[in-house]
Amino acid sequence: IKEYDYLIVGSGLFGATFAHEMTKAGKKCLVIDKRDHAGGNIHCKKIEDINVHWYGAHIFHTNDKSLWDYVNQFTEFNRYTNSPIANYKGELYNLPFNMNTFYKLWGTKTPEEAKEKIAKQIEHLKITEPKNLEEQALKLVGPDIYEKLIKHYTEKQWGKSATELPAFIIKRLPVRFTYDNNYFNDKYQGIPIGGYNKIVEGLLKGCEVKLNTDFFADRNYWKGIANKIVFTGKIDHYFDNCYGELEYRSLKFEVEIHDTENFQGNAVMNFTDAETPFNRVYEHKHFEFGTQSKTVITREYPLKDVKNAEPYYPVNDERNMAILKQYQLLAEKEENVIFGGRLAEYRYYDMHQVIASALIKSKTELK
Ligand code: FDA
Repeated sequence: IKEYDYLIVGSGLFGATFAHEMTKAGKKCLVIDKRDHAGGNIHCKKIEDINVHWYGAHIFHTNDKSLWDYVNQFTEFNRYTNSPIANYKGELYNLPFNMNTFYKLWGTKTPEEAKEKIAKQIEHLKITEPKNLEEQALKLVGPDIYEKLIKHYTEKQWGKSATELPAFIIKRLPVRFTYDNNYFNDKYQGIPIGGYNKIVEGLLKGCEVKLNTDFFADRNYWKGIANKIVFTGKIDHYFDNCYGELEYRSLKFEVEIHDTENFQGNAVMNFTDAETPFNRVYEHKHFEFGTQSKTVITREYPLKDVKNAEPYYPVNDERNMAILKQYQLLAEKEENVIFGGRLAEYRYYDMHQVIASALIKSKTELK
């Protein structure tokens, strides 16, 4: 008889949700994480009494009432609405592209005027089958918005020219003909009062957690102590990179404390010109309407050299998807191991999606 029903590798939202459901059902779980904190990428660090989103800005949003209720069991959410500002060489524009953006760009005041302006901008381009991201964006919104708000931001993000990037990356671009700066269309949105750690603490309550513990440091030992393993780390690493490494885009975060109450007046500012080396600046206190006397900001830089960097965004191109398929076939054959979460599935998940996925997998287990 093994000591635990489940060994859960990774205390991010997937692992923590799975552990929560299983513990609730009376199963004995052990969660291990190689980091010195639980919560994976939603972890917040308290600096100057401000919850700093340590791995990038996280805004919870969903259309699903049951998922909204699920996270609200652990703490109440505030009414934060994401409305980023784009800064192009000192000119400020509202995002997502809406009537405020169009007014600032062209002085158009009615939806009809704005639609006409965009149609005129696109008309002469005659792009029918966009061959790359640049053509796709031009076809959707025309050259003014493309140049000031898309081109350089995207090129910095991917470290490639927009003409070398595939068109599918931006199938759609949210264009709104109302004066609505709310970035998300979802019914429910907000930031947990007291920060994301409250959610993680709630999920992991009553569950054994070991931090600073890497599964790969002694995988045979870990395999021996539980009936089943839930693995939320990198799938390629699990199989010793036997088909090659899956590629990720990465980011570098620089955190600064400023001796001022209000640095930029908004939680998220995107820098959409080519010259500014960072892509975004977050001012964390604005996620929680903070009134502290100091402020903490994070500059988010796209990282070109991704060797040994933290993996953030999967690169879902043909090469990587083909490699992933091979790993998935091995995963299917791996007995008593459940692969879940963004790294084990090599896919971009929003928070509500990763919770939904963990809830489905835990339900299947309990059947
Ligand atoms: P996650 O990476 O959080 O957890 C995996 C855990 O496993 C980590 O703690 C890791 O240390 C651990 N681990 C890995 N290998 C291990 C090993 N060998 N041994 C032990 N432990 C190991 N979503 C959203 O809804 N709104 C938003 O605004 C944002 N914003 C955002 C910004 C940025 C920059 C990124 C990259 C992502 C977002 N997201 C988001 C997505 C969100 O971060 C994501 O959905 C969840 O954090 C995914 O949780 P997981 O548990 O899948 O992975």
